[in-house]
Amino acid sequence: MLKSEQQTAYQRDGYLVLPHFKSPDALQALRQRADDIVDAFVPPATKTIFTTNEQVRSVDRYFLDSAANTSCFFEEEAFGPDGELRQAKALSINKIGHAMHDVDPVFSAFSRGPELRQLAQDVGLSQPEIWQSMYIFKQPGIGGEVGWHQDATFFETTPITVTTFWFALEDATVHNGCLWTQPGSHRGPLRERFVRDADQVTMQKLDATPWPHTTTAIPLEVEAGALVVFHGLLPHYSAPNRSSASRHAYTLHVTDATAHYSAANWIQRSAAMPARGF
Ligand code: FE2
Repeated sequence: MLKSEQQTAYQRDGYLVLPHFKSPDALQALRQRADDIVDAFVPPATKTIFTTNEQVRSVDRYFLDSAANTSCFFEEEAFGPDGELRQAKALSINKIGHAMHDVDPVFSAFSRGPELRQLAQDVGLSQPEIWQSMYIFKQPGIGGEVGWHQDATFFETTPITVTTFWFALEDATVHNGCLWTQPGSHRGPLRERFVRDADQVTMQKLDATPWPHTTTAIPLEVEAGALVVFHGLLPHYSAPNRSSASRHAYTLHVTDATAHYSAANWIQRSAAMPARGF
């Protein structure tokens, strides 16, 4: 799948952009399925389920259960002072998560296949296990910021193996909240760890190394269909979307089964629903 210079670039930079990885038909099928899921979603009575910034999660039963199902989360700015949605439900959802790749046939088909299997091998995942899927809407006008973080914070293995597969379902630009990163910054330490103990989760500070500065970070502007694959230690960020264009993306978080998966990670799977590969 990857040429040797691409493998070299991935090792050097901590990420790689693969344009035109998914066909327009594949993108359309996933977008339609996401639309249908949101359409069928009946918001629970308590509206405490929104989440935007991964560092400030609203942790409740709905969130914890989403580790093994298909759940919808609102944008933080979706509700007005009266507690009512400010715009249509379809334009108010922050993301769908976190197990569509296992419980939804359309998502499963998008999330697997020989190309992804080969790519996983090429980036060092000898026995890939997909733990999490997220459909991120980054809605026009209210799409929230996702602050600097490393995905290894949420998927600790020994050694660290988590790798992110980030699919652009629409063009991602500096205007609608594309990813930002600093090439090579995956060689820094893991700064935080998101630890679950029963139904409690806490963010533990591990290392005070500062996040990349916006003057040294670069935007990863990509066209719809591109796949950005990146190392779990790579710090990344995305700005709020104040434009009139949405920025749909789909992500998978994948570890290597040869590494030890921490029992303190918030997503655990049972024998009845084991984490599977590509
Ligand atoms: Fe992330």
